[in-house]
Amino acid sequence: MRIDILCLFPEMFVSPFSHSIVRRADEHGLVDVVTHNIRDFAHDRHATVDDYPYGGGAGMVLKPEPVFEAVEHVWHATGLVDAPVILLTPGGRPFSQRIAAELAAYSQFTLICGHYEGIDERVSQYLATDELSIGDYVLTGGELAAMVVVDAVVRLVPGVLGSGESAAEESHAAGLLEYPHYTRPEEFRGWKVPSVLLSGNHAEIAAWRRRQSVLKTAARRPDLLDNVTLSDKERAWISESLLNRS
Ligand code: ADE
Repeated sequence: MRIDILCLFPEMFVSPFSHSIVRRADEHGLVDVVTHNIRDFAHDRHATVDDYPYGGGAGMVLKPEPVFEAVEHVWHATGLVDAPVILLTPGGRPFSQRIAAELAAYSQFTLICGHYEGIDERVSQYLATDELSIGDYVLTGGELAAMVVVDAVVRLVPGVLGSGESAAEESHAAGLLEYPHYTRPEEFRGWKVPSVLLSGNHAEIAAWRRRQSVLKTAARRPDLLDNVTLSDKERAWISESLLNRS
């Protein structure tokens, strides 16, 4: 997989991508992350990439020409013009595990990191194939959002996670939050590990974990349950726990 990132601060990616799972994926030749500075595609000798907003208002707007030309440069370099071009913006679709899995199935995609007060609307209308937001808050630029997207996608690329790590069981993979984890010691400051986890009974452990997942999701993120199929028994667990709380 190849991921191209167009941004104004490529140096921001150096440290995060040289430690994490992204580095491992890169070393194994599974993922190639290439950053590009939008400023390199500016037209004047001052490398201007922003300008005042038409109609007035606060802040500067990222100009369309360098952004279009940076994407066209990627198209020329890779020969692929139909890969997704994703603009990171607080106005985008909420990024989710499902979208991460969709992106992990592509052999290539491009991320555009916005900056300043905004980016010229023609980028969104005529260049980007999608727009993503990583949450309902405003970051200074799209770089941190791009790191989040790349991290979540890369770990889903087959072969990136080691055999001991599983992307299938974790939070959100099944649409539910993950069950609690424990490790040694068996008792810490008087707090004991649930006895079922020490029982060696795999069926009981699986049932306990499922129940914990369902109840935790119902308590913390009931909105997620709209997209999950639960059995009658599981629905009864939720009603019971709600009764016990009130
Ligand atoms: N750029 C600024 N804020 C952002 C957000 N919440 N998500 C994606 N890109 C952004």
